[in-house]
Amino acid sequence: GIVVPSLGEGIWLPVMLFRPILTSRKHFKAESTDIILTIMPKSGTTWLKALTFSIANRNVFSIDQSPLLTSNPHTLVPFLEYTVYPDLENPELENIPRPRIFSTHMHFKILPDSIRESGCRIIYICRNPLDQFVSHYHFILQNKIENDAVPLELDEVFDMFCQGIQPFGPFWDHMLGYWNAQLKNPQKLLFLKYEDLKQDVSSHVKQIAEFIGFPFSAEEENQGMLEQISRLCSFENLKNLKVNKSGYFIGSIKNSSFFRKGEVGDWINHLTPAMAERVNNLTETKFQSSGLVFKM
Ligand code: A3P
Repeated sequence: GIVVPSLGEGIWLPVMLFRPILTSRKHFKAESTDIILTIMPKSGTTWLKALTFSIANRNVFSIDQSPLLTSNPHTLVPFLEYTVYPDLENPELENIPRPRIFSTHMHFKILPDSIRESGCRIIYICRNPLDQFVSHYHFILQNKIENDAVPLELDEVFDMFCQGIQPFGPFWDHMLGYWNAQLKNPQKLLFLKYEDLKQDVSSHVKQIAEFIGFPFSAEEENQGMLEQISRLCSFENLKNLKVNKSGYFIGSIKNSSFFRKGEVGDWINHLTPAMAERVNNLTETKFQSSGLVFKM
């Protein structure tokens, strides 16, 4: 099946990631200069990887020589859970240039201890539940991620989603874990929203750069560096690159399946008002006094 309850923590994990996650929890040693991107699937992983990689490496590669032009962002910023998994072809952790950037879909409470304890930084990005659900549903269909445990009918997948059953679900708990961690320690964790990024990428490029300790100089800003990085990492640019139009990321997962529409509010084309209401009610109940709200 694609999702199994695990770790006694009420988190649903894809079977194929079960061992990699356990292994990384045991063996991964964070360094204080590491940057860890944490995301619920389908909430902006690809985008945040492209942006953070470009910001941190802007003095290594010029924009027109960026490795992003010829590589899927997921190969430039490895998933943490894969890097320590002995059965996969992994980048050598020692040889990754500093600062190392990793991404992971793990909930805050199951991150390897050394991430929480070392001085490394965490950037979290979340997305409203309706668009995340629709994006994930298409991802399953596009990549034919089907087996006995995964229904392909929208209604059924939706019902499971509302019960919290989705890779790395429950959706709301994922967000709340990082939200609360950020309230406790804003120096450690930057909490972003996909919808805010869509509204204004450049100001977030600046914010990410400052957060990870790579602030832009006045000269860089005057030269339009913020805008150049925003454009390089834009949905339109990445989607249309040859490398992202063909080939596979891993297994049956197509590079192209990471670039579908890239919009806010596409849920309206796929979900009924009753479905939206169910999710909105759930969200209200779950987020109650947290102060966390979404733009739909
Ligand atoms: P849609 O399916 O709504 O289009 P992830 O990267 O976490 O897997 O999330 C994938 C979602 O982010 C998809 O949403 C995809 O189209 C969108 N996306 C990918 N690259 C993007 C970019 N550069 N800018 C904005 N959205 C992007």
